[in-house]
Amino acid sequence: MTVNHTRRGVLSAGAALGAAGAALGTGAASARRQTVERPLEGRVALITGAARGFGRETAVQMARQGARLALLDIADADAMRDEIGYPLGSRSELDETVSLVEAEGGEALAIVADVRDRDAMADAVTQATAAYGGVDIVVANAGIVVSQDGLGDYTPERWHTLMSVNVYGVMNTVEAALEPLRASDHARVVILSSRAGRAGAGVVGYGVSKWAVTGLMKNLAQQLGADGIRVNAVAPGMADTPMPYYMLGNEPGEPARSQMDEDQRGRSVLPMGLLDPADVARVIVMAAGPATEAVSGTTFDVNAGSSANSLD
Ligand SMILES: NC(=O)c1ccc[n+]([C@@H]2O[C@H](COP(=O)([O-])OP(=O)(O)OC[C@H]3O[C@@H](n4cnc5c(N)ncnc54)[C@H](O)[C@@H]3O)[C@@H](O)[C@H]2O)c1
Repeated sequence: MTVNHTRRGVLSAGAALGAAGAALGTGAASARRQTVERPLEGRVALITGAARGFGRETAVQMARQGARLALLDIADADAMRDEIGYPLGSRSELDETVSLVEAEGGEALAIVADVRDRDAMADAVTQATAAYGGVDIVVANAGIVVSQDGLGDYTPERWHTLMSVNVYGVMNTVEAALEPLRASDHARVVILSSRAGRAGAGVVGYGVSKWAVTGLMKNLAQQLGADGIRVNAVAPGMADTPMPYYMLGNEPGEPARSQMDEDQRGRSVLPMGLLDPADVARVIVMAAGPATEAVSGTTFDVNAGSSANSLD
């Protein structure tokens, strides 16, 4: 974990690099190349649910594009096992995400926190700003499923757990980061919704929670637009991360993978099965970058073309 560069320090280092390039007569071209190849240079991103899955893949891709990262996870496999029926990300998985970022030449700060905990999220943002001088990008990615998700499967406590992570946790994450986002000249919020937040998906609680974050995204986009904060959602179909395996009561890997791949292929318009998390992360990173300068309140569907079959 390397956190010894201040935000201002890195930005002025970038300016110094530009000046050096100019002295060599290549300034404009190299600055343009740097902007194109590393569009998140000088930006700080807070990613929740970063120990594995989309959070990890997004962290690695953002590091390649120059962002410095605050990687947050509950980092406790047993934290909700009794209620949701499967293990969450662990501390060693979170540390591995940090190592993968560092292997890309990036900088990452690991933060252990539960997105449901307001004080912990406020503290997480304080840690990120102390390390990097600000937060420009928030990826509200942490989420859970429950292994049984039909009518009759819910106690009030289970329902509350699902909603408090998937909906309240997202609002909490954004709210905690509002001050640095308002101070940023590149403020982006990317919220993970789902295909289950765009159409019925045969699940009760998870579907409700993902429709709720789609609505939350639109209302936040309205409320924060005047501050220049772009708020968008990414809605993936089923992807090859641990979550859908557990949702269907399986362990990650074969033989469940082949079955899920075949099922997903049947729903896809493109010749693709279970989505590669890297393909989803590419859209999250795009939504967090300069491409969304004039975009807010929108959902980016990543579902191998299933959108072509519906009105959304
Ligand atoms: N994988 C899919 O097929 C799929 C499809 C559509 C949407 N999504 C959404 O994408 C997001 C990421 O999913 P994934 O597949 O990478 O899941 P995952 O279970 O593989 O990883 C989720 C991470 O979030 C962390 N987390 C969970 N609750 C937390 C909490 N309260 N506080 C802090 N961290 C917490 C977990 O520890 C874990 O590391 C979720 O919001 C999910 O609903 C996933």
